Amino acid sequence: MIKILAIESSCDETAAAVVVDGVKVLSNIINSQAELHKKYGGVVPEVASRLHVEVIDSVVKEALLEAKTTLDEIDAIAVTHAPGLVGSLLVGLSYAKGLAFSAGKPLIGVHHIEGHLSANYLSGLTPPFVSLVASGGHSHIIHSEDYRKFNIMGKTRDDAAGEAFDKVARVLGLPYPGGPNIDKAAKEGQANIKITKPKFHEETLDFSFSGIKTFIINYAHGLEQKNMPLPKNDIAASFQKTVVEILTDNTFEAAKRAKVKKVALAGGVAANTALRKSFEERAEKEGMEFYCPPFIYCTDNAAMIGAAAYHYYLEGNFADMSLNAIPYKPIGE
Ligand code: KG4
Ligand code: ZN
Repeated sequence: MIKILAIESSCDETAAAVVVDGVKVLSNIINSQAELHKKYGGVVPEVASRLHVEVIDSVVKEALLEAKTTLDEIDAIAVTHAPGLVGSLLVGLSYAKGLAFSAGKPLIGVHHIEGHLSANYLSGLTPPFVSLVASGGHSHIIHSEDYRKFNIMGKTRDDAAGEAFDKVARVLGLPYPGGPNIDKAAKEGQANIKITKPKFHEETLDFSFSGIKTFIINYAHGLEQKNMPLPKNDIAASFQKTVVEILTDNTFEAAKRAKVKKVALAGGVAANTALRKSFEERAEKEGMEFYCPPFIYCTDNAAMIGAAAYHYYLEGNFADMSLNAIPYKPIGE
């Protein structure tokens, strides 16, 4: 039995978890700063770092306490070291290094996106599979040939999917984080506004969301100039439908090309109810298995870092005290 203490602080959640054998979560503590960033309309990096410093010690202690585990019983300490906001990453990383050094435990440096897709291991997913990892900072279609063998089949060329949700929400006057609020508004509206999907000259599974975002901004301004009311719910429903169609089509095409029978969702945007439904229906139609983490493991958390770290542990892939925080780093490098 391998017990890992995992720490995550790459954006605006300070999180710690204890995970056994990469699949059993004994505790999963998340301290979200979202309320505090709300008034700025997004995450303020400097504020985020300071808030991580204030709570990290108590979050980690609570994770051990809830897991009824002492530091002595922990086999390794895992921490997100890339990618993310560098100041935020450094808080979790420095804390993890200090703890690993003082307790004489091995240190594991986990990639954040690998963490997101590993959240599905907690629901029993095993490779090979294709996943869509869509969050506030990333949109990737990844073919996991094995636990630690990745092939990126598509990615965004501009905004991340979650970023597009957040920006459109701002245009509609909905509070940050925009994703859940667009999700809610869309349920009250009709997808009756035609939005052109971006086209690429070459054959690709990449995404582009900035054109869709600009279309919505112009559409809203056009109505404003004519003193017409903003049909917020209809705009939300039309935007969401377009984005969900693109994400679904590209991911299932990737699965077909990779010849896999399992498709998964991960990342904050995987919390979107329309996206989950769309994947579920397409998987059923295509005779594929569909996996999606429960809501709590979609947005940033440390249980997913513990799930990923287990496979580093099995490889004997440990970090030393020179492990650094890296703001940009592709998965699998
Ligand atoms: O994974 P995450 O917590 O943080 C990053 O690593 O970025 O993802 C946060 C993103 C935000 O952009 C948020 O708006 C989006 O996930 N999100 C959603 C929903 N819930 C969260 N987007 C669409 N629909 C949702 N229900
Ligand atoms: Zn994330």
